[in-house]
Amino acid sequence: MKKGAFITIEGCEGVGKSTQTAMLKNYFESINRDALFLREPGGTDISEKIRSVILDTSNVGMSGICEALLYSAARAQLIEEVIAPALAAGRIIVCDRFTDSTFAYQGCARNLGEDVITRLNDIACCGISPDITIFLDLEPEAAFKRKGGADTGDRLECAGIEFHRRVYEGYLKCAKAYPSRFRRVDASSDAEVIHREIIELLKAAGVV
Ligand code: TMP
Repeated sequence: MKKGAFITIEGCEGVGKSTQTAMLKNYFESINRDALFLREPGGTDISEKIRSVILDTSNVGMSGICEALLYSAARAQLIEEVIAPALAAGRIIVCDRFTDSTFAYQGCARNLGEDVITRLNDIACCGISPDITIFLDLEPEAAFKRKGGADTGDRLECAGIEFHRRVYEGYLKCAKAYPSRFRRVDASSDAEVIHREIIELLKAAGVV
């Protein structure tokens, strides 16, 4: 059994990431396995402050590149303060969103392009990348229908269905670009079914 691992959970808004992350946390506790659960943007005091600036609905004038730099700044702090030391100590990390979110949201949906995002991610991550990315695959139309509409919540959630469609296309590109770490999970199923599938894929990867 492998000791440490860096696992990320990705997907569009409303696909059940928070539910699955909470179920996974309970699972690790139930088998007495140490795992550090983080979310992006966030996970440190500084990164949480940056998060509130990014998601503030009153920041209507924020440019795409400003947004991408803020996500990268929050990530750089999280990497240095938490992720790098935890990986060095051999811990399992489960992070709700990471670099693929920046690629899908800022690279594709905000149209900043792959090159800019790759450069930002490289600067922020200092060579750290996920071992496994669980992609909760559900098209935004279906996800918004399930949660009762698209135009609620934070600044990004309010961006409209065309924006979220481009986010989804961005994730499909990531899945194609990184087939060895991407694990696609059908997020239209019941939460319990999805959870079991996630546990099975983590077992298959030797993480649990
Ligand atoms: P959350 O709703 O999953 O907590 O994520 C916060 C929002 O930030 C969500 O709309 C996705 C967005 N996001 C980006 O646009 N780029 C990023 O790099 C990350 C990590 C999140």
